[in-house]
Amino acid sequence: MPNSTSSYHSQRGFLQLARHDASMIAAELRAGLLETTPRTSAKYLYDALGSKLFEAICELPEYYPTRTESAIFARHLPAIAAAIGTGATLIDLGAGNCAKAAKLFAALQPAQYVPVDISVEFLRDAVGFLQQRFPQIDMFGLGLDFSAALDLPPQVRRAQRLFFYPGSSIGNFSPEEALVFLRHLRDSCGSDGGLLIGVDLVKDHTVLDAAYDDALGVTAAFNRNVLLHLNRLLEADFALADWQHRGFFNAQHSRIEMHLEARRALTVQWRGGQRSFAEGERIHTENSYKYTEHSFKDLLLQAGFGELSTWTDEQGWFLVCHARVM
Ligand code: AVJ
Repeated sequence: MPNSTSSYHSQRGFLQLARHDASMIAAELRAGLLETTPRTSAKYLYDALGSKLFEAICELPEYYPTRTESAIFARHLPAIAAAIGTGATLIDLGAGNCAKAAKLFAALQPAQYVPVDISVEFLRDAVGFLQQRFPQIDMFGLGLDFSAALDLPPQVRRAQRLFFYPGSSIGNFSPEEALVFLRHLRDSCGSDGGLLIGVDLVKDHTVLDAAYDDALGVTAAFNRNVLLHLNRLLEADFALADWQHRGFFNAQHSRIEMHLEARRALTVQWRGGQRSFAEGERIHTENSYKYTEHSFKDLLLQAGFGELSTWTDEQGWFLVCHARVM
């Protein structure tokens, strides 16, 4: 678990909070693989190659969320900025290359920008570059796994905190987990804080299915790459050729599910263990929950947010929401 007091790397403008050690990660992964329904956490999709494959997914014709959200921001930026006001402490959750937040700077004029990502190494270049373009904004990069805990260090301003959580990343949490997470954000906001969040909406199932099983096979590569990551983390011997990508909408749970399906009966070995898989047996690698405008607003209200403003695209495929602490 990340622990806010045990930072091992700190330099001016950056802080890397303690990461899980390798043995804990391996133990958690082995336990998941040995469950009746084997599973891995979605975060293991994002090693260096996985992050690049995800960037490629965002360029696919079938993967509408990124470009739909970005069009909503472009079109409604004046209204979004008016709802938020200037001088915020902009806390960017899962900032990556910081590109989405950078597009808001001119309109929002934040007092401080705090990009948060699991790896501060990834942030360092992006923030250095941004700081040159926007010298008036105080920037402080934070390396931490905020899905486990979000304890902000004292360098993060308390005034006007605005959590920015775009891309429908909230969809990786179950609705119950999302509620806990949103409540936690609400509690970290102070009385003058808020949330700017993007969430993918339920739509025609063929559109959803295609977005997570594209014709080019990039999503398949993204999903199957988790096996290469597991091979390194566990010293396992997953053979890529044995595993097929499955990505589809599960209407009952209102979520996309990604699985890796064994093409034949096989046994996988790893350091300190093994598991046999029947032909057709699956490892569940990701959930991506889809909301309706109503169900998502309801979740925000339950989490203690209010004064909601929402923006969507013409097709009603994606929702951007601003909410204030109530
Ligand atoms: C980064 C979690 C928002 O769920 O759409 C894309 C990840 N998985 N294609 C999503 C993903 C397969 C993405 N999120």
